[in-house]
Amino acid sequence: SPLVIAIDGPSGSGKSSTSRGVAARLDLAHLDTGSMYRAVACRLAHLGIDPKTNPLDTIEVARTCRLEIDTSADHDLVLVDGEDVTEEIRLPETSAKVSAVATIQPVRDALTARMRQIAAERGRIVMEGRDITTVVCPDAQVRVLLVADPAVRIARRQAELGENVDMAQVIDSIVRRDRDDSTVSTFEEPADGVAVVDSTHLNLAQVIDAVIDLVPQ
Ligand code: C5P
Repeated sequence: SPLVIAIDGPSGSGKSSTSRGVAARLDLAHLDTGSMYRAVACRLAHLGIDPKTNPLDTIEVARTCRLEIDTSADHDLVLVDGEDVTEEIRLPETSAKVSAVATIQPVRDALTARMRQIAAERGRIVMEGRDITTVVCPDAQVRVLLVADPAVRIARRQAELGENVDMAQVIDSIVRRDRDDSTVSTFEEPADGVAVVDSTHLNLAQVIDAVIDLVPQ
């Protein structure tokens, strides 16, 4: 039977590791919807289209580009128009560009439709993002808002990126993106029926357990 687990949260909340961990434990597919916005941002950069000055071409690309995303829990391959952008989508340059793409409503509508199609095709899936519990899959059987104190999110992102990281850039990528995304994400107030899991004082295994505990038996 279909099972959709919707997980929203800001960057550094542990959303991706949690979502992959839950999908692996329950043998579900996994879709990181942020990777779709990121892939469109990369494609636009390759085409030399600036979303801020050229929203019409931006929308056209979001509607028509070919997105191939591996939905297995232990893979993260992302191709856009046949080009492998798996690594490029994670670069700080891409993170800095993606909010400008994600705040264009027709872009959101186009990608939301694709997300719903993938969820329907897979049937049993963990969907992670910013508006999954509210917009993309409001009827999901499990809806979780994953939160964590900003200082902890910054420390986790730093640990993820390793030794030679530019701290100013890490802080900027978290704090500025919280602000830039504030129109597309609803982190202050969880929607009705959405469970809040605060990972500030939990390790990854505990957060995965907390989400799995919410799955109806
Ligand atoms: O989750 P991640 O940080 O990879 O998401 C990248 C960006 O994609 C976010 O900063 C946000 O602008 C956008 N996004 C969104 N809605 C989603 C997922 C991501 O607007 N469901």
